[in-house]
Amino acid sequence: MKNRIRFFRNILACTFVLALILVEPGFADLTSGKKGISAHKAANMIHAVIEAGRTAYSKYIVNRLHEKKLLVATERWREDGGLLLPAQFLKISSEISNSRGVGLRYRLTSLWPINQENLPRSETEKTGLEEVTRNPDKPFTWVVQKGDMWFYEAIYPDKAVTESCVSCHNSHPKSSKADFKIGDVMGGIVIDFPLGTHSQKAPTGAFQVSPEVVTDYVHAVLQADRKVYSKYIVQRMEEQNIIQSRGDWKEQKALMLPAQFLMKVGQIANRRKVGLHFDLISLWPINPRNGPTNTFEKMALERVKIHPVRPYERLWTDRKPFFQSVYPDRAVTNSCVTCHNDHPASPKRDFKINDVMGGIAVTIALE
Ligand code: HEC
Ligand code: HEC
Repeated sequence: MKNRIRFFRNILACTFVLALILVEPGFADLTSGKKGISAHKAANMIHAVIEAGRTAYSKYIVNRLHEKKLLVATERWREDGGLLLPAQFLKISSEISNSRGVGLRYRLTSLWPINQENLPRSETEKTGLEEVTRNPDKPFTWVVQKGDMWFYEAIYPDKAVTESCVSCHNSHPKSSKADFKIGDVMGGIVIDFPLGTHSQKAPTGAFQVSPEVVTDYVHAVLQADRKVYSKYIVQRMEEQNIIQSRGDWKEQKALMLPAQFLMKVGQIANRRKVGLHFDLISLWPINPRNGPTNTFEKMALERVKIHPVRPYERLWTDRKPFFQSVYPDRAVTNSCVTCHNDHPASPKRDFKINDVMGGIAVTIALE
């Protein structure tokens, strides 16, 4: 706990403010009152998680297995028994997350897409992509009215971080650009979420999103990445006897476990210093370090077991205010159940599919 507090103090010291989004005072928004989070900070947290999932998958799964000559990522992964491309991983994950209906939506887009579905969907999106291509140091943000709702939208640059991004896109028959270089902005991640309902006038005032909405968004992304990794990578590869997942994956020709993948995403997102932290915990941990570390976590795990659709939440202060939500972590695939039930260190051996196996604790620093 001490570490976590120290961690947040560091984060707060590093938090910087991007462009302010201005909205009309009295605008009907999602704010619960005093302790909200600015929309741009919320978008930064959401982006940090999306980007962390993309990085963890590209670096520790695709690149690592390619370097070890074990597996490659291919566009026709279903037919080839290969790994999904990073863009396909993000696409399936965003479809799962978007369909949860929490209000948040995100996707990958580009001015020069391989898949025409990934073209910008509005003039502003197109302008945003041009803007982040010229100036990749900050996201491009705006507010837009759709029907009777106002939405906050942001585009973050998606850069060619490895040679494989460049070589695959430049040589792809459907790519409309063949001269990408390492470091170039190849496209962007668009994020949008609702700000509030009807208001005829364009919004013009400081705008905040309530913390429980922000943790719902962060959790929706995490949960979707977790599901894609468990189902489309681990379960599929194990069923087809292609590769196994193991705790000691580093030393082995193996995939990391779903829990380890989630923790990797967490470590990468934490490094972005946006005031976000998360943990995977359980009342029946295989690794004792993943047990509850305080009475709140213990209580939260007991509650999400009884009420498995609601997160358990608290607002707490240690000089600075924080908001924490513990979401149930369910056995979404059979592999969760069999591996935990059979694991020699598991204190519980009768998990069934859909059972709550633990919780994902999402903590955010408030302003
Ligand atoms: C082996 C080939 C391959 C590699 C490697 C690859 N991509 Fe792609 N990328 C694709 C394909 C195919 C799509 C279209 C996926 C779809 O159907 O939406 C795509 C989609 C995208 C898109 C959405 C726009 C579009 O082109 O449809 C972006 C942005 C993108 N990739 C960036 C990257 C970056 C950045 C990297 C490196 C981290 C990368 N790609 C690595 C093949 C690749
Ligand atoms: C192949 C084995 C395997 C699979 C599949 C697996 N887990 Fe785990 N899980 C583990 C191991 C081992 C740990 C401990 C990792 C560590 O050392 O932190 C763990 C950790 C966890 C934790 C943290 C508490 C603990 O037990 O240490 C939760 C919660 C959890 N897994 C849930 C799941 C869910 C939900 C799924 C399916 C989406 C899943 N696991 C799939 C082996 C597995």
